[in-house]
Amino acid sequence: MRRERTQVAIVGGGPAGLLLGQLLTQAGIDNVILERQSKSAVLRRIRAGVLESHSVDILRASGLRTRMDDLGMPKNGAWIVWQNRPAHFIDIARWTGRQMMAYGQTMLTEDLYAARAAAGSDVLDEAEDVALHGIDGPAPHLTYRRQGQDNRLDCDFVAGCDGFHGPSRPAIPSKLCRVHERSYPFGWLGIMVERPPLPDITYARHAEGFAMASRRTPMLSRYYVQAPISDSPEDWSDDRFWDTLLRRFPPEIAARIETGPSIEKSMAPLRSFVTEPMQYGRLYLAGDAGHIVPPTGAKGLNLAISDVYFLSRGLIAHYAEGTDRLLNGYSAAALRRIWAAQSLSSRLTRLLHVYPDDDAFTSRLVEAEYETLLRSETAQAALAHDYAGLPYLG
Ligand code: APR
Ligand code: PHB
Repeated sequence: MRRERTQVAIVGGGPAGLLLGQLLTQAGIDNVILERQSKSAVLRRIRAGVLESHSVDILRASGLRTRMDDLGMPKNGAWIVWQNRPAHFIDIARWTGRQMMAYGQTMLTEDLYAARAAAGSDVLDEAEDVALHGIDGPAPHLTYRRQGQDNRLDCDFVAGCDGFHGPSRPAIPSKLCRVHERSYPFGWLGIMVERPPLPDITYARHAEGFAMASRRTPMLSRYYVQAPISDSPEDWSDDRFWDTLLRRFPPEIAARIETGPSIEKSMAPLRSFVTEPMQYGRLYLAGDAGHIVPPTGAKGLNLAISDVYFLSRGLIAHYAEGTDRLLNGYSAAALRRIWAAQSLSSRLTRLLHVYPDDDAFTSRLVEAEYETLLRSETAQAALAHDYAGLPYLG
């Protein structure tokens, strides 16, 4: 078995693991990233595309040369449109003085891979059977297999950035953590199309269900419709998708949507999930390994960024100053933002979707909620603040 050593072993080369690697490398802390998939498979994934201004600040300060400022599109907020009712603009610029940035996670992941390669420490991709050992003691290590070779990686700390299905979260004894979970009986059927997008991200509520319009570049649009969880992309021809989408948007907006053949189609289930605490011994969970939010608030990527920001500060304080106050408080600091994002995501999901078991009373309550939003500047400001994301205090 080949044996190596690093300071921080990072499991998972998605946005959380890659950004953590970047922040640690920037601070002179040695780190290794192990990723189960091939780099090309990671870069083929299509995920959300909205960055909070707080995330943008962190990315700019991370020393990363992203194409975000060239290809991303700053936005003042997002629209909610509602069948037979006035539209509402979630005006984060007006209420918070900030903007958000429409920039695809796939492009950000490419930027992070490029930065890692430029720093001369590639992600170790196609790492099989990654296993965590000794995380409750002073000298943890990982074992894994790569290119037919068995390896052992000794480290000071393990960062579990391996998403919802990775081995890190199950390494925390179940009696020491608490799981909070909610699943939804529907998902989002999403397509990518090479057509100019609507000018703003637009969420649509219709008696039949939710639909939304988003963007990636001036020539690449992303659209979603709410669909039963049992559906698969094969159930949705392009014609069926466009008919459904256009029906769910108010006619004057539907008329502005440019349809075309899909170049990608996928189904994403909606789930809310949090595990508490997100640390155990020398293991720290970050990103989807610790929590999942439904995509309605576009918070998943932003939480991955805030987690690794808090974790990097804790690790930097450990190595630079020999203090573990921030590391010990990591989970609490991260969870404050996570629960705020869960709250926003679950409220927006409730507001915008039709649940199969909604009775007339529930539907009227949801309508009343929207009426309050249209009428009350206090409600508008509160939603705008939540959508913009909590400032980083921690
Ligand atoms: N060994 C090594 N790597 C693993 C393993 C394993 N056993 N299991 C999973 N991984 C890798 C996955 O292949 C993936 O590349 O961990 C990575 C986790 O990346 P993401 O799932 O993208 O999660 P994260 O980096 O936390 O980013 C969160 O992604 O899912 C979206 O909505 C979410 O936008 C948010 C962001
Ligand atoms: C996306 O661009 O894919 C997107 C944008 C906003 C969301 C969810 C997804 O709330």
